[in-house]
Order: sequence, then structure tokens, then C-alpha cells
Amino acid sequence: MRELPDDLYDTLVDAARAYFAAAIGDGRYVGWVAELDHPSGEIIAGAGLQLRELLPRPDAARERLVRGPQGLVLNVYTERAWRRRGVADALMRELLRWCRGNGIESVVLHASDDGRPLYDKLGFTPTNEMRYDGRL
Ligand SMILES: CC(C)(COP(=O)(O)OP(=O)(O)OC[C@H]1O[C@@H](n2cnc3c(N)ncnc32)[C@H](O)[C@@H]1OP(=O)(O)O)[C@@H](O)C(=O)NCCC(=O)NCCS
Repeated sequence: MRELPDDLYDTLVDAARAYFAAAIGDGRYVGWVAELDHPSGEIIAGAGLQLRELLPRPDAARERLVRGPQGLVLNVYTERAWRRRGVADALMRELLRWCRGNGIESVVLHASDDGRPLYDKLGFTPTNEMRYDGRL
């Protein structure tokens, strides 16, 4: 996403590797990759889902209490050479299919400009989320 300074690259790789080893292992993170049907097995795209518990709250129909898990979609990326062929669309549909089959209560994400048309098409809508930009 061009947000990472070069001098943080190695630190991020190490920290991410440690996070994913733990979080995939204990089910806090689920990832999907698109791999070429070719001996190289090159990975050309991916999508991820971070699962989190919610405070108990009524569901949308106000009929029962839900407490998650909620899925936060992250790391949706297609290598440039493979874009606009439906790869991210296929990964996202598989991710949503998995959510339906695994009791995920809701799915949220923060859309980039590149990703917004794809998420619109899949049925995501803007919410009322705000972010504090002051000092913490
Ligand atoms: C956003 C991103 C993941 C989309 O990946 P992608 O694999 O190109 O996505 P898809 O091909 O499934 O869909 C993208 C577009 O291609 C179109 N498309 C799908 N199949 C197509 C085909 N066979 N021929 C032409 N276009 C096609 C889709 O309709 C969509 O078009 P639209 O944007 O006009 O609606 C990719 O651009 C990316 O990695 N961007 C940088 C990282 C990023 O922003 N990630 C999202 C974070 S929220």
C-alpha cells in the first residue's frame, strides 16, 4: 500500500511472521491465497480475516444476543500482473462462503480506493465508523 518506510520493512516481516504463526495456529486469523496452477506454485493474490469477539449485543433484527465472532477483512492484495481478472473477487467470495459456514456474525473492512468497487459489488456498505486522529 506504499505506506511502509524502507527501514521498517525487516521489522514488519519479523513481527508479521510471529503474529501469523501464532494467530493462524489458534484460529484468530484465517488466510486464503490464490496460487498459480503451475509447478512454480507462485502465489498471486491473498485475502485474510482477523476474528474478534464482540461485546454482547442484539443482532440486526433485535431478536437475540450475539457476541461475534466478527471478521475483519485484511490483506486483500493481487499482484499487479494478475489484476482485473476476478482473482480478488473469487477470494472474497470464498472468504464470505467460509464465514457463512463458520458462524461468523458480521464482516467489516476498511476499503482502499482500489478495493471499494469490488466490495461494493459484493454487498459491503459504508458504516458510521469514526477514527480519533488526535494524540493518544
Ligand atoms: C483491490 C485489488 C485487491 C483488486 O484485485 P483484483 O484481483 O484486480 O480484483 P478483481 O479482478 O476481482 O476485481 C477488480 C476489477 O476487475 C473487474 N474484473 C473482474 N473480472 C474481470 C475480467 N475477466 N476482465 C476484466 N475485468 C474484470 C472487476 O469487475 C473489478 O472491476 P471494477 O473495479 O471496475 O468493479 C487490487 O487492485 C489490489 O491488490 N490493490 C492494492 C491493494 C489494495 O488496495 N487492496 C484492498 C485493500 S482494502
